[in-house]
Amino acid sequence: MGSQDFDPAQKGEPDLLNHSAEQLNGSLKGKDILSVRQFDTPTLDRIFYWSIEMAEIARKGYKADFLSRRILANVFYEPSTRTSSSFTAAMERLGGSVIPINEVTYSSVAKGEDLEDTMRTLERYADVIVLRHPEMGSATIAAEAVSIPLINAGDGVGEHPTQALLDYVTVRKEQGRVNGLTVTMLGDMRHGRTVHSLARLLSLYDVKLNYVSPEILRMPPEIVEELDAKGVRQTEFDSLAQVLPETDVLYVTRVQKERFDDPAVYDSVKGLYVVTPETLQAGKESLTIMHPLPRVGEIAKSVDLYTRNAAYFRQMENGLYVRMTLLAGVLGKLPTT
Ligand code: ASP
Ligand code: CP
Repeated sequence: MGSQDFDPAQKGEPDLLNHSAEQLNGSLKGKDILSVRQFDTPTLDRIFYWSIEMAEIARKGYKADFLSRRILANVFYEPSTRTSSSFTAAMERLGGSVIPINEVTYSSVAKGEDLEDTMRTLERYADVIVLRHPEMGSATIAAEAVSIPLINAGDGVGEHPTQALLDYVTVRKEQGRVNGLTVTMLGDMRHGRTVHSLARLLSLYDVKLNYVSPEILRMPPEIVEELDAKGVRQTEFDSLAQVLPETDVLYVTRVQKERFDDPAVYDSVKGLYVVTPETLQAGKESLTIMHPLPRVGEIAKSVDLYTRNAAYFRQMENGLYVRMTLLAGVLGKLPTT
């Protein structure tokens, strides 16, 4: 939302790292969703319960009318399958409609129009904007430019808050709780916006976090420090074998090829970790394996057969229900969020 909606004295300077995002305090109505830092556990509880309601609505197969006559501008400056299509499906399941800008090459961005002017244009046609963009902080800049709610669908190596929310819902559904769990994140901690958001969100709970990666793909120090200051137990490892036996949730990630300047460096770290059925032998029977997807070989397809453990397709489905909740929430159509 634009600065006219806030007290400028409180709002301060725009903050490229999404630090200025407004706390939600249980109400999504009219708010931007830029960072997981905006959430607290009561708000997360409500999102969890609403996402279960939304699953029911989606399952019944008829269009609910929560969002009739509402329009979403779904703007993707980077590739997406799940986030883009689940926001579209979410809007349509709730009776709304979508302006899809999935390929900015065919919009006036290709003529050189900047992000802010593009957002100001779409604001005139839509009630809510979803934005994915390659630069960290872009969602905050875009939100400052408009007065309708804006949802960050991934800002470069920054955050992917709606992914973290669906990850949280998945952990809670699969394990029945969040407190007391050991969550091991595997792969590209440095560039993976999903792990940046998820680690921050889980810091609201009593969890133990393990980060398994090669040296050059470690979790950014500012995130480790931020979570240290909150007293979160975090440990870095090189090998999964060191931590798998104690792990409740294994969150596997793709090495983010598109973030490397030097292809040789990417080649040196890609394919270092591959989860196979043999990997599961050392894990708990109740182990939940997650992945934000797309996968490019980090989880062998044969693991998909371990349906109790392999939660990544259920995880992706939860994205639809969480995004139905968020859209209805920011558009003021949920009684309790
Ligand atoms: N789809 C997720 C993202 O956009 C994860 C990935 O691409 O590896 O961040
Ligand atoms: N998890 C995720 O964001 O997937 P997409 O990149 O396909 O949207």
